[in-house]
Amino acid sequence: MLRLAICPGSFDPPTLGHLDVIERASRLFDELIVAVGVNSAKNPLLSLEQRLEALNISTKEFPNVRVEQFKGLLVNYALDKGATSIVRGLRATADFEYEFQMAMINRRLSDKVDTVFLMTKWEHSYLSSSIVREVATLGGDYAEMVHPGVRSVIAKALEARS
Ligand code: PNS
Repeated sequence: MLRLAICPGSFDPPTLGHLDVIERASRLFDELIVAVGVNSAKNPLLSLEQRLEALNISTKEFPNVRVEQFKGLLVNYALDKGATSIVRGLRATADFEYEFQMAMINRRLSDKVDTVFLMTKWEHSYLSSSIVREVATLGGDYAEMVHPGVRSVIAKALEARS
């Protein structure tokens, strides 16, 4: 039986921290779907299409990874795809409460899908999409926070805004 996992997120934008988790998860599972959800609480930098583009560019070297979008409940999407696991990255303690709550709710909604956490790499432990968004929109240098392909997607998005 193929082991399929979902790596969900807003990915606005995908950071090197996300990419590290995706790469490591791709070694743990036979197939990995990076699933872009639309989190309505956030004011986006990248459109859904730009996030899909950024993820497709930055994950193209991983043959068992594909990128999709999802709407509605994550567990329903995971069940629909036949996935057994949801993979999330975990940084320092700040992530824990939110991630714990999400994992609990998701398991309450379906006990057929488990959440697996991968601890972030030391050098990415300070990185987040919101930090990259802030640095990028305020004109700072975000080059070392994202994959080069993601950099150009962000640059285009910023250019279109100005
Ligand atoms: O990168 P993010 O913003 O932390 O990702 C959050 C995401 C998209 C994974 C989460 O908001 C989500 O799963 N949304 C889908 C709706 C859902 O299933 N909600 C119940 C679990 S909280």
